[in-house]
Amino acid sequence: MGRPFSRLMRPFASSTESVPAARDVPRHVAIIMDGNGRWATSRMLPRVAGHAKGVEAVRATVEACARRGIEYLTLFAFSSENWRRPPDEVSVLMRLFISALEREVALLKTSGIRLRIAGDLQRFEPRLRDLISEAERSTSHNRRMTLTVAANYGGRWDIVQAMHKLLAARPELANDPSLIDEASLAEHLAMSHTPEPDLFIRTGGEQRISNFLLWQLAYTELYFTETYWPDFGAAALDEAIRSYQLRERRFGRTGAQVEA
Ligand code: IPE
Ligand code: IPE
Ligand code: MG
Repeated sequence: MGRPFSRLMRPFASSTESVPAARDVPRHVAIIMDGNGRWATSRMLPRVAGHAKGVEAVRATVEACARRGIEYLTLFAFSSENWRRPPDEVSVLMRLFISALEREVALLKTSGIRLRIAGDLQRFEPRLRDLISEAERSTSHNRRMTLTVAANYGGRWDIVQAMHKLLAARPELANDPSLIDEASLAEHLAMSHTPEPDLFIRTGGEQRISNFLLWQLAYTELYFTETYWPDFGAAALDEAIRSYQLRERRFGRTGAQVEA
């Protein structure tokens, strides 16, 4: 018997199955954009003013990443737990998502950026779902950078939905679960179109993952900054990249092995 079929299908190496090549500029940056509410409150503004300002920081960060040759940028915009917020705030966030798609997709097209949305889209209103499919379709040929927006995304949701999809595609695995391996599951994750993140950034001062990319962050370098998301931009990104460049990524090996 050769290697499982799914392994041949996977375009990206797994950090637990092989040691990734070292690179100076992270190939994939994943960001938890946190601190919009506190940015606004500290200026005596309503929380939603922070979300509106946060959209501008998204634009600046997307552009800065593309210019630095980052191939994949993933932004956490709305978690599966953010529905717990007051309904008014949730509805403003949905409006902002809709208006950002309406206004920004043209720019993504001309900048060569492919847009993907990762998350459980079923809970979104039909208008938003239509905008998402159209935005993904019309940018699908772009190759300069892949921007993934995680919306109604949860790391646990992702692992469970991947298992559902795997068993639907290969029902025989239910009779012999030992045949299920990392590669076959990973192929069905919502992030299977990206390599694993090299650099994770969380703005806003909290040092937690908040159910973001639980599977994919296995060997990602973590970087936390006090900067609130609306104040994030090219300079703050460069600081994070500098910190990343000082890390020794060992992937389980010793420092001496890495040097060799
Ligand atoms: C991040 O900012 C945006 C979303 C979660 C949608 P927050 O709204 O969480 O801002 P803080 O953490 O309350 O300051
Ligand atoms: C994480 O931020 C989710 C996003 C930025 C979209 P939260 O503000 O929701 O995280 P917690 O609740 O502080 O952990
Ligand atoms: Mg927050």
